[in-house]
Amino acid sequence: MTKLEGDVSYPDPAIGASSHVPDPDGLRRAAAADPAGFWADRAAELEWYEPWDTVLDDANAPFFTWFVGGKTNIVRNAIDRHLAGPNKNKLALIWLSEDGTEHRTFSYFSLARQVNQMANIIVSMGVRKGDRVTIYLPRIPEVVFAMLACAKIGAVHSVIFAGFSADALQSRIDDSESKLVITADGSWVNGSIFPLKDIVDDAARHTPSVENVIVVKRTGQDVAMDPLRDHWYHDLTVLPIAKGRCETEVMDAEDPLYILYTSGSTGKPKAILHTHGGYMVGTYTTLKYCFDIRPEDRFWCTADPGWVTGHSYLVYGPLLTGATTFMFEGGPTYPYPNRWFQLIEYYGITAFYTAPTAIRSLMRFGEAWPNRHDLSSLRLLGTVGEPINPEAWHWFHRVVGKQRCPVIDTWWQTETGMFQITQVPGEPQKPGSAGKPFFGQEAEILDDAGNPVPDGEEGFLVLKNPWPAMMRTLFKDDERYVSQYWSKYPGKYLAGDSARRDADGYFWIIGRTDDVIKVSGHRLGTAEIESALVSHPAVAEAAAIGLPHDVKGNAIHVFVVLRLGYEPGEGLAEELRRHVSQHLSPIAKPDWIDFAEKLPKTRSGKIMRRVLKARALGQPEGDLSTLEE
Ligand code: PRX
Repeated sequence: MTKLEGDVSYPDPAIGASSHVPDPDGLRRAAAADPAGFWADRAAELEWYEPWDTVLDDANAPFFTWFVGGKTNIVRNAIDRHLAGPNKNKLALIWLSEDGTEHRTFSYFSLARQVNQMANIIVSMGVRKGDRVTIYLPRIPEVVFAMLACAKIGAVHSVIFAGFSADALQSRIDDSESKLVITADGSWVNGSIFPLKDIVDDAARHTPSVENVIVVKRTGQDVAMDPLRDHWYHDLTVLPIAKGRCETEVMDAEDPLYILYTSGSTGKPKAILHTHGGYMVGTYTTLKYCFDIRPEDRFWCTADPGWVTGHSYLVYGPLLTGATTFMFEGGPTYPYPNRWFQLIEYYGITAFYTAPTAIRSLMRFGEAWPNRHDLSSLRLLGTVGEPINPEAWHWFHRVVGKQRCPVIDTWWQTETGMFQITQVPGEPQKPGSAGKPFFGQEAEILDDAGNPVPDGEEGFLVLKNPWPAMMRTLFKDDERYVSQYWSKYPGKYLAGDSARRDADGYFWIIGRTDDVIKVSGHRLGTAEIESALVSHPAVAEAAAIGLPHDVKGNAIHVFVVLRLGYEPGEGLAEELRRHVSQHLSPIAKPDWIDFAEKLPKTRSGKIMRRVLKARALGQPEGDLSTLEE
């Protein structure tokens, strides 16, 4: 194999082949020869009310449709079909509270009861097929019930990460025109309460579409309840409408399942739209193949349901494959840095899927913490969200996986819905590389003009063919869908990442090429951070950039030009940091604030973040010909 910088080929003989993919190369060739046939065979493993006529319709590209004419519902496959077979009383969901004192388990049967109850309650609030429901909940079982309940009745869920501020929540509720918001009184974050209900109250003052708010009791502090709008969930569950039976709505394969807001290059987050049929087939297949899901598996995806990873691989994927999904309310290091390892041991987790930033944060505490625990239940490890540096890869592989478990690096996006470039168990591992395109997928690295670059050279990552779990459009914005993803290279999907491919066909992701910063694996738009800053009275202009950070991958560095009458200083810097935290999210809190006299701009007034970044890193500033006088 060709050596690239950072390349350590790792064909570990101890890594067993996947039981579902005994011959990855053979399957890759077969799927490449007939991608539609490959996907049709996978779809046939799932249940449909009515079969599809056409696997893929590309007549209206880039508005592709999949399993056209087919009728299904993702819940039929995530829950209903398991009730008729041996999975009925198998654990579907295991949940543990942050403080470890509450443990709740749900078999497929009892999950179905919970989902049905919530579905009936949602219907009683006047929500109908196609209506949007905003879910703003902590990592508790009710978030899973709520998502599945919406899907079951054909409503479109819009889950907002329960760390977003009132402003961010408000704009997302407003854009989705949700009639119903499902939230909790609060969430637990490292032993403190984050006041979700207060934030919803703030947000809902400016969201005329909201008719009802369902509130799950989680933290128990007093919260204001509007008697006409707000309802405690536990009060609703005892009403006659909250029956444990509910018919699953027959959905067209192409009917929307959910929207999920994500950051892009403008201040306005975009809502990625996914559908029932293709998304179901894509998440089912990728999880089954890449994590070799077996009947006895306990799969732990540490992502929050507020992000796509939580949607695809904490909720839908594991349930579609009939696995047991584990959800933990807390984080990796509270109260001690052995928390996750303790839970892997206690619950016998077999596959563990997390983010490089979490691995790096755990590495800092040393090997003694994981070594206190028996991690022998683990069979596979996985990572997602940002490139994994080989050092973190080796630590994960050696200290957590005891050199027995493959590390499945999965490159994908909110937009792609499912893994796109990924390792497959049994294939040689290259630490730091996300692997090869998934079966039936084709990816390529192009230069600015659209020509493929030679192996080993950096360029723009594109996906060459459609896949079932792809977003169908941006909600209410078909134009932006086309211009942002399909216009730079007509007919090809522009991922927004730079990458290299090596001579073995392995892809090495470098990072975003647009105005998106990945901070601890979270996706933030520079424009969102900047607009939060300029909403402070002291700030005239702001520019945000990402700078390399040992644990977070990137840290947020902002440059601020103050209005007349304001003086730079540590006090103001701290206030601005707090302001961003409150007006966008604590995850967007800038790490550094630099006060500047002016910002480098092009003559047309666009901030040259590239120049700011070069200056901050002490690197050459490059071509400055477009810089204004
Ligand atoms: O830059 C890539 C990075 O995360 C971006 C997508 O972010 P988001 O939509 O929030 O979805 C994250 C989880 C699927 C990508 O454009 N990214 C994601 N996975 C990887 C990655 N970068 C390198 N390696 C990965 N495995």
